Amino acid sequence: MPPLGILTFFILCASTSLAQDKSVDLQTRCGASFSDTYKPVQIQVNEDSDCTWSIVRPANETTRIVFSILDLNTAADCSQENVTVLDENLQVLGVLCPNSPRIDVFETPGSAYLRVSTNSDALVRTVYLMYYSFAPGNEAAVCGGQVNGYSGSISSPNYPGRHPHFAYCVWHLETPKNTKIDLSFTEIFLEVDPVCRFDFIALYDGPTTNSPILDVLCGRTVAELETTSNTLTVVLSTDYANSYFGFNLKYVALPENNSSSLFCSGEKMTVIFDPSYINSLGYNANDLTLIDTSCGPVSSNPIAFNVPFTSCGTVRKVEDHVISYTNIITATSSGVITRRKNIEFVMTCELDNESIVEIMYVTENDIIQESQETGKYDISLSFYQTQDYTTPVLESPYYIELNNTLFLQATLKTEDPGLTLFTESCFASSKSNFNGPTYYLIQNGCAKDNTYHNFPSGSGLARFSFSAFKFIEEYPSVYLQCRVVICDSNDPGSRCNQGCITRNRRDLGSNVRKVSAVVGPIRLKRQSDVDPLGSVSEKRGEDSTSETSNIYLFGILVLVVNVLLVAFIVLRNSRKKPNSYEYQALPTE
Ligand SMILES: *[C@@H]1O[C@H](CO)[C@@H](O)[C@H](O)[C@H]1NC(C)=O
Ligand SMILES: *[C@@H]1O[C@H](CO)[C@@H](O)[C@H](O)[C@H]1NC(C)=O
Repeated sequence: MPPLGILTFFILCASTSLAQDKSVDLQTRCGASFSDTYKPVQIQVNEDSDCTWSIVRPANETTRIVFSILDLNTAADCSQENVTVLDENLQVLGVLCPNSPRIDVFETPGSAYLRVSTNSDALVRTVYLMYYSFAPGNEAAVCGGQVNGYSGSISSPNYPGRHPHFAYCVWHLETPKNTKIDLSFTEIFLEVDPVCRFDFIALYDGPTTNSPILDVLCGRTVAELETTSNTLTVVLSTDYANSYFGFNLKYVALPENNSSSLFCSGEKMTVIFDPSYINSLGYNANDLTLIDTSCGPVSSNPIAFNVPFTSCGTVRKVEDHVISYTNIITATSSGVITRRKNIEFVMTCELDNESIVEIMYVTENDIIQESQETGKYDISLSFYQTQDYTTPVLESPYYIELNNTLFLQATLKTEDPGLTLFTESCFASSKSNFNGPTYYLIQNGCAKDNTYHNFPSGSGLARFSFSAFKFIEEYPSVYLQCRVVICDSNDPGSRCNQGCITRNRRDLGSNVRKVSAVVGPIRLKRQSDVDPLGSVSEKRGEDSTSETSNIYLFGILVLVVNVLLVAFIVLRNSRKKPNSYEYQALPTE
């Protein structure tokens, strides 16, 4: 055995024995009260129990409770058997049911209570938890965070040094849409425990710790895992003793279907290949280019392309009011001539009705495979200070006065200068979810408010203004939602050039691309904020017939929020295809 192996062997023995020596408080009586700063507790209860364990901590500290074993009677219903976690005011923080995931974490100021109820089935239930408290903002370890990109690595704090005690780190990984995450731990070295009660890594197959648990790992091991989609949550939780090297993992984004994936945003296409798929075709990353052969992949594992809509040879087409962008990835053999197949990947992003359709063809010696997904537009709506649209309003909320004119701009996130926008409808609501009373400023392109004014629209943006309206006086907050139509600027018959469409002509607008965006809330300034000489105060005096309006509603506030609203999924069942090819679905379709 090499020296390192021997060392490892001794550390393992030491950690196993330490783990066994750990002064875990075994609770077999019914309920107890703890006041220690931290404590590992193993609760064992039998049938028909209804006991409460109290964790008594000062209100100026945060108490974190980490459940790592939840072994209840799985034959029982949650209404008969559960662990209810309550805060210091006896408000329920959460209920752990027999089918809940084994890892659960709660955080609350001050004290907490755990009420364990079991049904009449005769068996032993085991719950393991560790709690600790700390002054807010004074955590033992600052760790975790958002992780993006095609590939990368994550390691525990201080790695390869010893990890801190009382760490609770949450990493959120996100790779491009239509990919999954391939994960491989190069090292895991945490406290050894057969059931990973003490220090552990929990992996969740999704964007949060509410997603299904993929695995819980501890001890000295390595592991490989794969997610079902493009998000993964990694948690590291450690207790008060036995700190080793922690962990290191590498991740890589791979196409969901194991070969290739295409994702279109309003700005670009993202294409990802599994390198082994390209290898199986007889090529590698260096053999692949876009139509403009100076544009190659931005990453080789995975093989990833960022395809801009306006360069690298991307072809833009407008057909039947539908705008599409196409580029082709070609594999060219450099140097030695081989008997490799000719391969082309044809990618198209289509700005279809209310969505973006992604189409990818693979041509391999005249056989075409097709894959298709849908994406979305990004539109933001914001207020500007003046009609020259130089200064956006950054305050949120943005307070204005009743006689102010509000200037709004809708902006499409795109690199394509050939797209114009048209504000088709805009209405105000007192609620951010747009339930309740509404007030239309413009509908089907027709102004409904006589102060509404459209400014000439430029590339990728639409501008309009209106005056503060009566509606705003009646509600403390007002939100605006606008539907914006996206058109090709050279298409004279597009919806953007039709203006107001009355009810009986409305079907003309069927083949248009619309996106909604929301901005708000808008509020009236309080009286004290208003210039005492301004006309607003005078108007207020005339208008104030209701007491509530005197109390709340003065001036107007508007706030700038970028909201993207999206799009319904329009998957086309059939599409135009070149006649000379046969089609075959990609394996995952
Ligand atoms: C938890 O169990 C108790 C005791 O059986 C029951 O009163 C309570 O309703 C249960 N909670 C839930 C959410 O089912
Ligand atoms: C919390 O309050 C206690 C007194 O109740 C005080 O002794 C302690 O220093 C406070 N801790 C913090 C972190 O403020």
